[in-house]
Amino acid sequence: MTIDDVDDLAGLSAAGRVVADTRDAMLAAVEPGITTGELDAIGRGLLRAAGARSAPRLAYGFPGSTCISVNEEAAHGVPSKLRALRPGDLVNIDVSAELDGYWADTGASTAVGSVTDRAQALLDATRLAQADGMAAAVAGRPLRGIGRAVERRARRHGFTIVADLLGHGVGRGIHEEPNLSSIEDRSDPTLLWEGLVLAIEPFLAMGATHTVTADDGWTLLTDDGGLAAQFEHTVVVTNGHPLVLTASAA
Ligand code: CO
Ligand code: CO
Repeated sequence: MTIDDVDDLAGLSAAGRVVADTRDAMLAAVEPGITTGELDAIGRGLLRAAGARSAPRLAYGFPGSTCISVNEEAAHGVPSKLRALRPGDLVNIDVSAELDGYWADTGASTAVGSVTDRAQALLDATRLAQADGMAAAVAGRPLRGIGRAVERRARRHGFTIVADLLGHGVGRGIHEEPNLSSIEDRSDPTLLWEGLVLAIEPFLAMGATHTVTADDGWTLLTDDGGLAAQFEHTVVVTNGHPLVLTASAA
């Protein structure tokens, strides 16, 4: 969507606050032994308490309130009471929800206990890539500049981009136009505009470039079975740095 009045900004900001706080509470609960089902229950409770509805459940009938993806699960991992986190795992928590007609989307990856140096480097590079993507989201500049910035960061740190996992417009629904590739599409003439709401969410990996769908019909696995990581924020494009609606509370 494009924000064009203060009511839109207030509504979307409120939705962003709820998903960001839910994400951070779930991240804080990550420890060896907790199950992804237990993490999801924390998220479900917080969304419900805020009067928000889980976006994946509402829009797609996803069998969880949040998406929790471990290690080679890049995205859309289904929470399970049988899946306990173990030291050395990387876990991604993606929280998206609707509140009073506005939709916001955020995600973050984190380490469970201590992880290998290379896994930590993947987390760090993915966080930086997401920040680089946001910094490139300036009104009047090409949309593809976001992918260019992400690509450059991934390359510099020796990681691959999972090309089929896209960022997207968001706001009045969970997935809106335009799609946002993390690889620069030089043929895309789209220019960014003020007020455009985007979910910027690069996925970096140890070597994978695509995903395959798991037998559960939901989970997207890296094509090489290696680790992937993602960070995601919902932002509003401005003439300067975008307004980040899903930042952590101060
Ligand atoms: Co998301
Ligand atoms: Co998203």
